[in-house]
Amino acid sequence: MGEEGLAEISARYIRFADTEAHGRSPLYEELARAVAGDRETLGFLSTLPDVKRQPNLLLAAVRHLFGTPTGWNEFRQALQANPDAIRSLMLERSTQTNEPGRCATLLPVLARLPQPLALLEVGTSAGLCLMPDLYSYDYGRKAIRAPAMAAEPPVFRCSASETTPMPAAAPQVVWRAGLDLSPIDASDPSQVAWLETLVWPEQTARLANLRAAVKIAATVKPRVLKGDLRGSDLVRLCSEAPKDATLVIFHTAVLDYVSDPADREAFAEQVMRLSPYWVSNEFPRVFPCIARCAGKSRPPGHFLLSVNGSPVAWTDPHGASLEWIADEA
Ligand SMILES: C[S@@+](CC[C@H](N)C(=O)[O-])C[C@H]1O[C@@H](n2cnc3c(N)ncnc32)[C@H](O)[C@@H]1O
Repeated sequence: MGEEGLAEISARYIRFADTEAHGRSPLYEELARAVAGDRETLGFLSTLPDVKRQPNLLLAAVRHLFGTPTGWNEFRQALQANPDAIRSLMLERSTQTNEPGRCATLLPVLARLPQPLALLEVGTSAGLCLMPDLYSYDYGRKAIRAPAMAAEPPVFRCSASETTPMPAAAPQVVWRAGLDLSPIDASDPSQVAWLETLVWPEQTARLANLRAAVKIAATVKPRVLKGDLRGSDLVRLCSEAPKDATLVIFHTAVLDYVSDPADREAFAEQVMRLSPYWVSNEFPRVFPCIARCAGKSRPPGHFLLSVNGSPVAWTDPHGASLEWIADEA
């Protein structure tokens, strides 16, 4: 790979440091900036396929194999001493971060739809976002308690802007199913260990909530099927949803993985044909048409939440905040 290619990888790590890790993980910010300036590490990344060069994947792979480094020197030593082990883990795994905290940003939308709901999530990972009705939430001015269950529910804290319509109660979910290219089994300890490594190092509350959600999933066993969001798998799964519930097809942090914009548009058109409600929670670059309607003031590094192609809110990628932008609340 030439200089231009290395500069592209470097820019990706800087972008990650600036817009994703900054203010959320000092260690990841430090490491990503150091990777961006280190020729040898950039050279290592250039030997991997483009989709495997993600900052999250490299940082998680090193931590998974060698523990959380104290800083750049330790990280670099681990990489220099073990490039093959790190490469093969990066090729084997992918960034399937399952962040149930995103349910806190979906809830104000889901709670306003005609109940009960049939939830279908594409790119569901282990299916943890399929259980928004089984978690507790703290929005500051409003709290929602999970129904009593054997497992202690996680509590997701989310600071919501004033105009956000506060859900009166959790949605009523009568059917749930997820689709993923590579589903994660929440009852398999080695797969769960990888999910845990994908949580950024300083985020201990996030990790505790992930573990609590995994316990609920191990009991509820949300149905998670192997399949591609593009095409017939989705059509088949939709046909199984009960007709007397409101079908909602949703996704969070998924469509960035579908690299061809034409595929993303075709997916959006198909979803609108299959379901009365399409809820998308993605980086704004994923659907530029929707982002154009969301106005100019964009909090950097945030997702855009939309319903049926209309922007509704800017959301923190891990569900910690929500800024409502829809006209009517
Ligand atoms: C970053 S994870 C997000 C998981 C979950 N939606 C969440 O927000 O916690 C993205 C997931 O999308 C899945 N994925 C990517 N492309 C897909 C496709 N074409 N069809 C189905 N799933 C896909 C990946 O396997 C991965 O599990």
